[in-house]
Amino acid sequence: MMFELNGKKVDSDTYAVVGDPISHSLSPDIHKIFAEQTEQALRYERWHLTSENFDSNVLRFFESGGGGLNVTAPHKQAAFQLCAQRSSRAALAKATNTLSSSGGEILGDTTDGLGLVADIARLGWPITGKRVLLIGAGGAVRGVLGLLMQLAPTELVVLNRTSEKAEILCQELVAATSSKSDTAVRGFGLDYQADPFDLVINGTSAAYSDSAPMIDDDLVKGAVCYDMMYGRELTPFLRWSKEQGARDVSDGLGMLVGQAAESFFIWRSVRPSVTPVVDSLRRLLQ
Ligand code: ATR
Repeated sequence: MMFELNGKKVDSDTYAVVGDPISHSLSPDIHKIFAEQTEQALRYERWHLTSENFDSNVLRFFESGGGGLNVTAPHKQAAFQLCAQRSSRAALAKATNTLSSSGGEILGDTTDGLGLVADIARLGWPITGKRVLLIGAGGAVRGVLGLLMQLAPTELVVLNRTSEKAEILCQELVAATSSKSDTAVRGFGLDYQADPFDLVINGTSAAYSDSAPMIDDDLVKGAVCYDMMYGRELTPFLRWSKEQGARDVSDGLGMLVGQAAESFFIWRSVRPSVTPVVDSLRRLLQ
């Protein structure tokens, strides 16, 4: 079946990021640098699909022999539903950001967690044996929670504005992993109080309304704080954390490049190097 994307025939070297909206996505820039860096002959497009036409177009893309897709908001759950096979990471996240195909079947994986833990390792921030706090209980947090748990923090606390969502998410995680883990996992509302954590990760979308999640300031004192969001300037959460005495802060640009590198690896079996791409995107943003 002949299928064109942005005026060119789709083949096994064709990749794209799909979302709604999609014009702001940095993924085409990142994958272009990866392809040059690793000398892989591929093209990577930006593809606007709505919830109405997502399924039919993704199916046609793979029926036509397309190489792979990255999936971003709001389609990560829809992509999960379309897959014939899902990685265990994706099954826990109930979402996929990376689609590929094999023998006519769509395979789904999620690389967000890998991108996050790789970036935290790059920063030299330990997770194993530490007390870790995650803020948010939506798709972003769901996508990374399982992998954080595998790194065996002593404690993993999830706080959410709607506390029930944090509690349910933690119960699901414990049910899926408890036999393999000693980590204490618990979910609460944003009014939770405790001693300062070692690592605090913001996975809420509060930055879209230019705000930080309202948590107790004691929680971040002396902690290292990570925001899955990124931007030209420090995010509201990181600005606030610094004001409360956080020891170090980082935004999520490295996570973005890291998850892209893991998708690239799934498709091409070559792992590009992340740090130079983070550095050049940082310059681009500023
Ligand atoms: P995503 O896929 O980006 O995680 P989502 O699934 O819509 O998006 O989840 C957004 C998360 O940010 C939720 O945890 C949401 O809290 P609720 O579950 O209570 O809605 C959280 N969030 C959004 N705006 C927020 C704000 N201003 N303060 C605190 N939390 C906020």
